Amino acid sequence: MKVRINEVGPRDGLQSQGKTLTVESRLSLIQSLVKAGLKNLEAGSFVSPKAVPQMAGTDELFALLPERSTVRYAGLVPNMKGYEFAVAAGANVVNVVLSVTETMNQKNIRMSLPQTADVCVAIIERGRREGIAVQAYLAVAFECPFEGLVEPAVVARYAKLVKQAGASKIIIADTIGAANPEQVRRLLDAVISEVGSDILSCHFHDTRGMALANITVALDRGVREFDSSIGGLGGCPFSPGATGNVATEDVVLLLNSMGHDTGIDPLDLIPVINAAEQLTGVSLGGKSFRWLSQPSAKVAGEARHGG
Ligand code: COA
Ligand code: ZN
Repeated sequence: MKVRINEVGPRDGLQSQGKTLTVESRLSLIQSLVKAGLKNLEAGSFVSPKAVPQMAGTDELFALLPERSTVRYAGLVPNMKGYEFAVAAGANVVNVVLSVTETMNQKNIRMSLPQTADVCVAIIERGRREGIAVQAYLAVAFECPFEGLVEPAVVARYAKLVKQAGASKIIIADTIGAANPEQVRRLLDAVISEVGSDILSCHFHDTRGMALANITVALDRGVREFDSSIGGLGGCPFSPGATGNVATEDVVLLLNSMGHDTGIDPLDLIPVINAAEQLTGVSLGGKSFRWLSQPSAKVAGEARHGG
């Protein structure tokens, strides 16, 4: 079974780093991810540089992206102005973010929940008219750092709204990494009954060490796309308590060992993790990093591939 990995390190990962990388450094991280076989990346965001200085210059970055014909690059946008910047920069996949609680929208983009929903719908509809795929993130879908637990029915309602508007994908995001597998099961059941599983992807953070367990539940429910971040790079500057995204190497290893086809060899990710550490100055690596870095991992990989 093919499972798509969407690498979000260059956006979700880098936006929360203390150190702001140059456009050249961000590009070099993306180049090494592409070299390692990643075909879907969130390359950056078109947001106010005052709000997120780490993402300044994303338009310059888009002009330099490698292998545009075979790699799918998305840009995150918070409003119509961001959509226009993204399209002008040549993005043909745009991500909108609808946080499903009032306070999270206020803190993140200074808009109310109904305003954000209207803006997201307007961007999705405009994208449809203009041939731009718009993917909708439903953020803080399980728990909000300001308002607490979120009812699955609320998320299901917004999923239906963005699907009807024409979203090409709906990404259920555990922005602060608070979900457990039982909550994932309940939420996905509610959402799938409204929109089906084909349109869904999941975005987990590993704050409490439950991201891989959550992914297996989502797989069981028919989800075939997951976000992850190289080496677990990440966090969210607007959500207190959010730590790194689930690490790409962990998700790839989990899926490959279960017999799914990600098209990525986890061993190819090791040099990328090392490069990302050098660029950011932070220590990286998911749960499997140490094992993957040992010679025995290489031997196990070769045995699986028949030498
Ligand atoms: N890209 C770049 N600049 C933008 C922009 C965008 N998408 N949207 C607005 N701006 C600029 C405006 O032009 C204005 O610039 P100026 O001060 O030079 O005149 C400034 O940002 C403020 O605009 P305003 O409409 O008053 O917005 P705001 O101050 O209420 O901020 C956002 C709202 C959405 C622009 C800002 O909060 C933001 O970019 N947030 C992104 C947060 C984020 O990335 N979160 C993580 C992912 S969800
Ligand atoms: Zn995230």
